Amino acid sequence: MPQETSSIRWRTVVEVAIISLVIYILIGTPGISTSQTTQTEAVNPKARAKVENLVYPRENLQCTHHGHQIHIFTTNPLVMYIEDFVSEDEADHLVDISANNWQVSTVFNKGQEHRDDSIRKSEKALVDRDDMVQCIEQRALSIQGWPQETFIERLWTQRYNVSGHYAHHYDWATASKHSRRVSTFMVYLRAECTGGGTNFPRLPMPHDEKWCAYIECAAERDGTPGVTFKPRKGAAVYWENFDASGRGYKETIHAGLPVTSGVKIGLNIWTWFQAGHVADE
Ligand SMILES: *[C@@H]1O[C@H](CO)[C@@H](O)[C@H](O)[C@H]1NC(C)=O
Repeated sequence: MPQETSSIRWRTVVEVAIISLVIYILIGTPGISTSQTTQTEAVNPKARAKVENLVYPRENLQCTHHGHQIHIFTTNPLVMYIEDFVSEDEADHLVDISANNWQVSTVFNKGQEHRDDSIRKSEKALVDRDDMVQCIEQRALSIQGWPQETFIERLWTQRYNVSGHYAHHYDWATASKHSRRVSTFMVYLRAECTGGGTNFPRLPMPHDEKWCAYIECAAERDGTPGVTFKPRKGAAVYWENFDASGRGYKETIHAGLPVTSGVKIGLNIWTWFQAGHVADE
């Protein structure tokens, strides 16, 4: 009697499975080959690549004390010029470890990565995360008050030779409620150049002449709209890309103006908010 009940149950299970499979095939095998799935697959690897690119300074990192000087340019959006954000030694070290890694910079257009000298002409190098580099990551997070669920994108240096530049753009291409590039540090590692300033056409010129040490005033301005921060070795321009409600600040549109002589080497530090993400280390 118990045996019979059990064999009936198994037959039912098998029948239900076969009927389900037939229905599944008849309605077009959802989850395998619909166009919707193709779309999701196109997005997911990108999201995954993004998360794999996020880092956090390791625990027990020993960093020597480093003094820098913050000059607040505006508070809404928050824009600061930070003198000595990196020391001379740190700047030189970052340039040294980039030496063998330079590759042509690219831009993204409709999800496609390609080279376009009219938009962006520079070379970039992925930076290995030794302790000195992680201490810089740590400094970048500490200046922002160690925000929660917030990480550093793997660091890249950028080299701009004569005519190297980056046309006006925002740093917040793919933003959502759960993930976005909250802030940017544009750090100058080498600034033996003319030109190459970081221009914000929508920021107003300040009245206080003390800013002329950090931005291009009067004679140097040559009609460029807005404010142009001067590349100075070790200094950084910092800005927030989003307000508290998650709306992008239109004032943060900026460009790397063409280098007219010499070489500029910069370091991008992008801080990324990723809800629910936990760092590996
Ligand atoms: C930029 O200048 C460096 C020398 O400072 C040179 O080695 C490099 O090839 C130049 N890059 C390009 C793209 O011309």
